[in-house]
Amino acid sequence: MTQNNPLLRLEHVSKEYGNQTVLNDVSTTIASGDFVAMVGMSGGGKSTLLRLIAGLESPTNGQVSQQDRIITELNTDSRTMFQDDRLLPWMTVRDNLTFGNHTPQSIEHANDLLARVDLSSFAESYPTDLSGGQKQRVALARALMSHPKLLLLDEPLGALDAFTRRKMQDLILDIWRQEHLTVILVTHDVTEAARMANKVFVIKNHRLAWQEHNALNYPRNNSQAVAAVADDILSQVIA
Ligand SMILES: Nc1ncnc2c1ncn2[C@@H]1O[C@H](COP(=O)(O)OP(=O)(O)OP(=O)(O)O)[C@@H](O)[C@H]1O
Ligand SMILES: [Mg+2]
Repeated sequence: MTQNNPLLRLEHVSKEYGNQTVLNDVSTTIASGDFVAMVGMSGGGKSTLLRLIAGLESPTNGQVSQQDRIITELNTDSRTMFQDDRLLPWMTVRDNLTFGNHTPQSIEHANDLLARVDLSSFAESYPTDLSGGQKQRVALARALMSHPKLLLLDEPLGALDAFTRRKMQDLILDIWRQEHLTVILVTHDVTEAARMANKVFVIKNHRLAWQEHNALNYPRNNSQAVAAVADDILSQVIA
């Protein structure tokens, strides 16, 4: 899909809470299949922008549209994954995915997804029996249950150790490729942004201050190349 026919289009989007401007005149496009990393200082408006795309809130000015439909209510093509896993502790792992829909198809789909995130043997376990990384894998599987087009990731890996985080990054990249998803990942980790995304948004002073739209052609398995791009992103954030 070209930029002339993007999946998402943000046009002069502003968001105010009372007299506080949280997002100011943000315009951009996101193509189907993009992997966008969004970085910026704390409080800059990144989560707010995700919530506007998810249809959880409405802009004060401007509009967000998906395939030419203005988003005015919950965007059912999207699923959001948060920093905390938000699993229901009184339900088993599988029930956290099927969520009361115990049809054979739903159970089979849940089992498939649990296999994808390498948690088949934990289907009957409860969230309290899982490690932080395992819980995030359940949360990822749950987010995929409804076959979303758009996966919104609000710092989902922030609480994980470096090894688990790297494995989760690879899992998300595999799923992004295999499911032909469009992903928007908010992260404080510029190396994570450089390693994963093909498009980077820097939010600064409540504006979209920098966007790198070019397919970033550098080998993602070359840590020096990734570190150089991460440095570029960091200098855009703090400049
Ligand atoms: N529902 C709300 N009501 C009032 N103010 C809000 C609300 N949601 C967010 N804000 C304010 O909007 C600003 C931006 O918040 P947001 O959560 O979007 O930032 P962020 O870039 O995601 O920050 P962080 O990196 O710390 O998660 C903050 O000053 C926050 O206090
Ligand atoms: Mg946030």
